[in-house]
Amino acid sequence: MASSQPAPVESPEVWTVARILEWTTRYLKERGSETPRLDSEILLSHTRKCKRIQLYTNFDTPLTDAERAQMRDLVKRRANAEPVAYLVGHREFFGLDFNVTKDVLIPRPDTETLVVQLLERANVLAMGNSPPAAEGEAVKPAKNAAELRILELCTGSGCIAITAAVNLPKAKVLATDISPDALKIATDNATKHSVLERLEFRAGDLFQAVPDDAKFDLIASNPPYVPDGEIAGLDPDVRDHEPMLALRAGPDGMRLLTPIVENAGRYLVPGGWLLLETGIEQSPLTQQALESNAEFQEVRVVKDLAGRPRVVLAQRK
Ligand SMILES: C[S@@+](CC[C@H](N)C(=O)[O-])C[C@H]1O[C@@H](n2cnc3c(N)ncnc32)[C@H](O)[C@@H]1O
Repeated sequence: MASSQPAPVESPEVWTVARILEWTTRYLKERGSETPRLDSEILLSHTRKCKRIQLYTNFDTPLTDAERAQMRDLVKRRANAEPVAYLVGHREFFGLDFNVTKDVLIPRPDTETLVVQLLERANVLAMGNSPPAAEGEAVKPAKNAAELRILELCTGSGCIAITAAVNLPKAKVLATDISPDALKIATDNATKHSVLERLEFRAGDLFQAVPDDAKFDLIASNPPYVPDGEIAGLDPDVRDHEPMLALRAGPDGMRLLTPIVENAGRYLVPGGWLLLETGIEQSPLTQQALESNAEFQEVRVVKDLAGRPRVVLAQRK
């Protein structure tokens, strides 16, 4: 905290919504937040149990002592790079709200690219492999889709599996993770979104959690893919607070992607699809691995909204 700034709790002035937002925004900016105003608004609306818009219609309302004490604690933790999603306990993904704790990776907007591809492939399969939507055409949920079987490896908060189940009302999803603590959060999220009866969660190392004879129409995964040597250079928000189990992936970031590519074919039906989120550096490695795997065809690389290659998909022959 800059020494010239009064601490909000000690000031004799009235700490209104407007004033605390202004102070917190300045303070978090000084402490390195790239989104200080947004952070301040989310933390204050969480503290006041209101929507962000309601802060703007209550600018002159003073905070209670309890609200000021809670804000002081949250702002201190945010200044220490603790992610806002962990502080408030949830994060939006694909229009759905997911509970998050330090046991799960915070869902990223990047991963929505994988989900769009998953829904698109699901629609194509449900329509009996008729051509996909034209480029730029909106993906329509396959409301009348045949019952699809989907496997998600490395589910974490469950954001991919649950978004798929919500958007594909007849799909059955098996979601796995090596972390039982993550699976507890994913189960809570499935309950929250009323899809628990179509989801099954299993703990285990990649395909070890999957029954030997199981077959799926679609397999999706956003596995850990950060190379060991890049961990130290990650943003402190990520490096110091998100689970290392969800990030670290060996010298080249391929520690999980390689065995997923090697084993997925055995669990896919002919014509089924494998969809993988990767880092930019792992995208060509994953593409090569799929192209040299005789079980797959139609290997494609999809770019995210920023134009970076982030999703690799391939069809089981
Ligand atoms: C990058 S996070 C993805 C979480 C979530 N699917 C998402 O997209 O936000 C990777 C997840 O893989 C899990 N994981 C790490 N190693 C694993 C393994 N060997 N087998 C299964 N899951 C693993 C971690 O616990 C973590 O939840």
